[in-house]
Amino acid sequence: MSPHAHITGWGMAVPERIMTNNEIAQMVDTNDEWIVSMTGIRERRIANKDETTASLATAAALKALQVANLSPSSVDLIIVSTSTPEYIFPATACLVQDSIGAKHAGAFDVMAACSGFIFALNIAANAVRTGATRTVLVIGAETLSRLVNWQDRSTCILFGDGAGAFVVQASEDPGGFLSGVIRSDGSGGDLLSVPAGGSANPTSLHTIHDGLHYIQMNGREVFRFATRVMSQATQEAVEKANLTMNDIKLVIPHQANLRIIEAAARGLGISMDRCFVNIDRYGNTSTASIPIATVEAYQKGLISPGDRIAFVGFGAGLTWGSAVVEWSGPLPGIRKLRPYSYRWYARIRSFILRLLRKIDAWIWDRQNH
Ligand code: ACO
Repeated sequence: MSPHAHITGWGMAVPERIMTNNEIAQMVDTNDEWIVSMTGIRERRIANKDETTASLATAAALKALQVANLSPSSVDLIIVSTSTPEYIFPATACLVQDSIGAKHAGAFDVMAACSGFIFALNIAANAVRTGATRTVLVIGAETLSRLVNWQDRSTCILFGDGAGAFVVQASEDPGGFLSGVIRSDGSGGDLLSVPAGGSANPTSLHTIHDGLHYIQMNGREVFRFATRVMSQATQEAVEKANLTMNDIKLVIPHQANLRIIEAAARGLGISMDRCFVNIDRYGNTSTASIPIATVEAYQKGLISPGDRIAFVGFGAGLTWGSAVVEWSGPLPGIRKLRPYSYRWYARIRSFILRLLRKIDAWIWDRQNH
């Protein structure tokens, strides 16, 4: 019998620095009232210079492992979904694999913009359900503040930084991941993009001069697309799971714009109290928004074992997708680990490795100059 893929751990990490709408109003011609009424966003978190996509991903992953009572060495696969990787390569997932000490894990990145977490969750669940892997760490992490043009008022108000992670584990017990839908329409690629820095437009003085390394967006068209696909995709995943919307306790949508979430709720015929919203405090954290929202919904007591939850997202690509899960919680019968032990282990290990690399570089320098 094929195993089932259960979400057994969850964690989030956001920068401490809060940027309010009023602060943005000092940089561009906007105001708190416009931003709140058009998007629902009141503030967002912004990474400081030492915080990166990988460091936020690592912190979220360690928290998720702690909830699942698992050590990093029991992870088989790490999938990081991000549009703001540390580098073009190596993959951010490999950096996370190293920093948490998941020495038996394969690791790779997925890029499907704001829908990325849904795509990565689908891949993870299917890898578990085929029996190919037992334990997968799925992480959505972004530092979009580094790709935002802080002089463009139509985009800089929207985005924030953060990371969220799930542990997906095999179990013979029924439940867990019930269905998934992933879709793309590349013909809409130009509606939301970062045109330079890839192989089509390598970074040059010209691309920097023209601001092509920043996010470019046709907000109105993206809005139209999002309101069309959010309810459709949710409905499709619910039907695929042989359920109806009445069986769904909570919808956790991608947090891009409160008006888009309200339109999705209307399309699904459900009240807003069945849609989780935290966009007011984090803005659009892209692929991190769904796992961050899930952690907060759990902390607020809105999710319990046995509840059916629908995740739904959309983003650049264009991409969109959804998933329905039956919430599980940590698998029983696993030895309880001491809280925080792995976080400290990972910090000390990463410090020692960095030190060794510096000593290595210093010796190489001395020998060659
Ligand atoms: N403050 C004040 N006025 C503004 C601002 C601002 N920050 N931004 C735009 N305006 C003005 C415009 O200049 C325009 O003025 P005009 O009529 O005098 O020309 C007016 O407001 C309306 O502008 P629109 O861009 O047409 O406004 P719209 O109703 O589309 O709202 C918004 C803009 C909020 C960005 C909306 O389009 C939206 O949320 N779109 C979806 C974006 C999104 O979700 N992107 C993320 C996708 S996920 C991913 O993959 C990263």
